[in-house]
Amino acid sequence: MRKVIIAGNWKMNKNLQESMDLANSLKKELSGVKDIEMVLCPPFTSLGAVAEVIKGTGIKLGAQDCYWEKEGAFTGEVSIGMLKSVGCAYCIVGHSERRQFFGETNLTVNKKAKALLKEGVMPIVCVGEKLEERKADKAFDVVKDHVVNSLAGLSKEDMLKTVIAYEPVWAIGTGVNATKEQAQEIHKYIRGLLKEMYDAQVAEGVRIQYGGSVKPDNIKELISQGDVDGALVGGASLKSDSFSQIVRNSSK
Ligand code: 13P
Repeated sequence: MRKVIIAGNWKMNKNLQESMDLANSLKKELSGVKDIEMVLCPPFTSLGAVAEVIKGTGIKLGAQDCYWEKEGAFTGEVSIGMLKSVGCAYCIVGHSERRQFFGETNLTVNKKAKALLKEGVMPIVCVGEKLEERKADKAFDVVKDHVVNSLAGLSKEDMLKTVIAYEPVWAIGTGVNATKEQAQEIHKYIRGLLKEMYDAQVAEGVRIQYGGSVKPDNIKELISQGDVDGALVGGASLKSDSFSQIVRNSSK
């Protein structure tokens, strides 16, 4: 059985104090939740402080990006060792905002995913088509390109530690989520790709999150789908009540 994973991607929101306040509030709201894996992904500047707040709880810490080199003259970048030193268990890579605004490609996503796995941090690899690509009937092709090339060369063991997030770009921050049927169709397709690339054990073992306008009132129908194993939540993760309601509504 795949354990449901709900992650909050805070994006470029929350200063240090606001991050600690939100984490403290979530710690209270979510104490006692056992059946769902919960991950908070605050900005780099708040990782250490949020780690302190959630220490000893079931809530895990994730970063929003990383660089694959270990150290050196890479101004502005953050290494995986640094992320580990503040307690990150997960790291998002290949988010569409990074692909769109910061030149992220399948190749750089692949380098980051491999480096994370080598260091024992679990990647959350984002894939998903833009609106024009869906309209042109290219959603499956784009998702295949992202999955095959972002995950190229990962061993079976590494693949089983990796989380895939299907985030259709047209659903991010728009209030228009993919319907449960649209999400299930792509998630099932991704699982089929994993079976081709690896085997049935990997296909059945890898968790696939949905992301894009997830809210407390649509998570139930999304999570009811057989191949939807969780959510990567943006806007609704910035408030304690909406994120904790999403977690509570996510039991399979
Ligand atoms: P929203 O939930 O704000 O649509 O963002 C989704 C997302 O990009 C999570 O990574």
